[in-house]
Amino acid sequence: MSEVLLDLQRINKIYNETSRHPVRAVKDLNLNVAQGEIVALLGSSGCGKTSTLRMIAGFEAVSSGQILIKGRPVHALAPARRNVAMAFEGYSLYPPLTVEENIAFALKSERLAKDEIRKKVAEIAHLLEIEDILERYPGSISGGQQQRASLARALIRDADLHLLDEPMGQLEPQLRALLRGRIKHFIKERGLTAILVTHDQTEANALADRIAVMEGGVLQQFDSPLHLKDRPANLFTGTFIGEPPMNVFPAQAEADGDNLKLNLADGVCLTYPASAFSDDLKARLLSSDTFVIGVRPHAVKITPGGHPAKVYANQWLGDQTHVAARFAGQTIVSVRHDRAHHAPGETIGIDLAASDLHIFAADSGRAFSHGGALA
Ligand SMILES: Nc1ncnc2c1ncn2[C@@H]1O[C@H](COP(=O)(O)OP(=O)(O)O)[C@@H](O)[C@H]1O
Ligand SMILES: [Mg+2]
Repeated sequence: MSEVLLDLQRINKIYNETSRHPVRAVKDLNLNVAQGEIVALLGSSGCGKTSTLRMIAGFEAVSSGQILIKGRPVHALAPARRNVAMAFEGYSLYPPLTVEENIAFALKSERLAKDEIRKKVAEIAHLLEIEDILERYPGSISGGQQQRASLARALIRDADLHLLDEPMGQLEPQLRALLRGRIKHFIKERGLTAILVTHDQTEANALADRIAVMEGGVLQQFDSPLHLKDRPANLFTGTFIGEPPMNVFPAQAEADGDNLKLNLADGVCLTYPASAFSDDLKARLLSSDTFVIGVRPHAVKITPGGHPAKVYANQWLGDQTHVAARFAGQTIVSVRHDRAHHAPGETIGIDLAASDLHIFAADSGRAFSHGGALA
């Protein structure tokens, strides 16, 4: 494990703490970021991402908890003394300065020669496709251009930590995809450490080494993109990560000779060889009243001999087909990579392999198992 650069220790943010309506934006957050790592804070709007970033940068005070950078407590220091560069969600460029001057301004404290500054600004402007607006003023460029200027101003700095708050939110999808690769290369090549705030899981997956999934100010899981997909810690992460979302069904287990039956709604009974589940998992399932099974749409097979389900929508998305059908009292979605078409009203067969099941506790949502073995 490489050196810890940033360490958040049980930080809390409560806005309007003394009022009658305090807002608990961040709750007991523990998080560490290694030197050279890209970490994404991922979650829906209002989950506390910006608050977390602003506390790290020093633009918001922590209500409680500690923030350490390179082992040094910084939460009581002014922003300028933390050696952190931030690209804000709202851009915040200086209106009287041109884009070039805005970007170069960030280098002022680094005491570089004029030529050197010009070279650096040109390089980052080229990377972010804003070379043609360097002479313009922030008031006369689009939101997407302001956003890239603001990102350039943050990335160009020689800081311990780079904080990027929704840095590509205003860009059209194609430009976003292009810049994602360039930004990742830029950060990794220079060995920078970055925290990326986003509500876009594709962006988080593509850029981050680890992703912190947040909901309601609470960290749900902090893991690699692959683990988040294959081993979600709870039902929230399971259904939040992955597109289209994981299919979920309440179920009960029943032992039947050499088989284990999972009973779903509407009389759907999934029968598996008992050997497909570990002994401790079987015991857990048989002693639970109800639990929730989850299957990713990519793992839902459509086969002639499967459990009958009635199609109600078939969506061709250009490179894959999403087939939605009524199954076990709910909707099940299957993703197919061929061009098969299933017309609404058609009855298809659904096959769910034991190795593709994620099982969660019905009450807490905590994961019991992934693919037949305890989580
Ligand atoms: N300055 C503030 N005063 C009061 N409440 C705030 C303030 N800033 C953010 N909040 C609230 O804190 C919560 C988290 O907000 P924020 O950190 O901006 O979320 P995100 O960036 O994930 O969308 C939200 O409920 C938001 O309304
Ligand atoms: Mg935000």
